[in-house]
Amino acid sequence: MISVRSVTKEFKNLSGTTRVLEGVNLEVNKGEFVTVFGPNGSGKTTLLNIISGIEKQDSGEVLVYGKNPKDAHVGFVFQNYNESLFPWRTVFENIIFPLEIAKIKKEKQNKIGEYLLNKIQLLYAKDKYVYELSGGQRQLVSICRAIASDPDILIMDEPFSSLDYSTTRKMELELLDIWQEKKITTLFVSHDIDEAIFLADKVIVLSPRPASVKKIFEVNLPRPRTLDMLSSPEFTELRNEILNTFEYEK
Ligand SMILES: Nc1ncnc2c1ncn2[C@@H]1O[C@H](COP(=O)(O)OP(=O)(O)OP(=O)(O)O)[C@@H](O)[C@H]1O
Ligand SMILES: [Mg+2]
Repeated sequence: MISVRSVTKEFKNLSGTTRVLEGVNLEVNKGEFVTVFGPNGSGKTTLLNIISGIEKQDSGEVLVYGKNPKDAHVGFVFQNYNESLFPWRTVFENIIFPLEIAKIKKEKQNKIGEYLLNKIQLLYAKDKYVYELSGGQRQLVSICRAIASDPDILIMDEPFSSLDYSTTRKMELELLDIWQEKKITTLFVSHDIDEAIFLADKVIVLSPRPASVKKIFEVNLPRPRTLDMLSSPEFTELRNEILNTFEYEK
């Protein structure tokens, strides 16, 4: 459903050229939850921007459902929830925004909006403004907004990276609960190894910049995932295996 072949990208500025992506190849199949694990500054956001059509690669090919990313329907959750939600809209109005753009009937907008708010236990906050919510709640609203109009794929750029440990784990469970229902094809970037494994069907490990795919790991933990899996021997073994590749490659 997502196919990235030999993608390269560099940025030019006054101080020279930065090569960010160096022949990136990856595939995400329909209904899969795939995480991309890579160090800070390795090019993860650039890769997601290219897959979602926000930015254009220098060479190589990206197809989303066989289409150019610009023509595909992509749901995007940004890293910075403070900048991505609309402060002048209520929680409900934020979630139904893409439905308004798509000119969906008011009645259906209300139905979808309320369904999603109920799912994340925020129905009581329907008419609040986003600044009245906690960071974790804001990211849940961002996720709901991204999936409200049933996108082909969901792309998430470290959505929980500024939350504390226990809130992050709670948000991961909430996200999986939402994902489980429709099994929307998801590509999720993280520099948190526990998160990358806990969420995924497979983990794609990137090299430091310029990024290329170093190795792909299958995660064979059963679903639904539960927090006790974080300390299971299978989890620890995979975690060590991934970190070894990562350290070794550095
Ligand atoms: N528009 C741009 N113009 C110039 N350089 C850029 C641009 N966007 C990104 N870069 C550079 O490309 C490199 C990769 O950036 P990118 O944001 O993709 O990394 P990242 O892996 O998402 O980092 P982080 O973990 O900090 O989010 C960085 O060195 C960055 O400075
Ligand atoms: Mg980034």
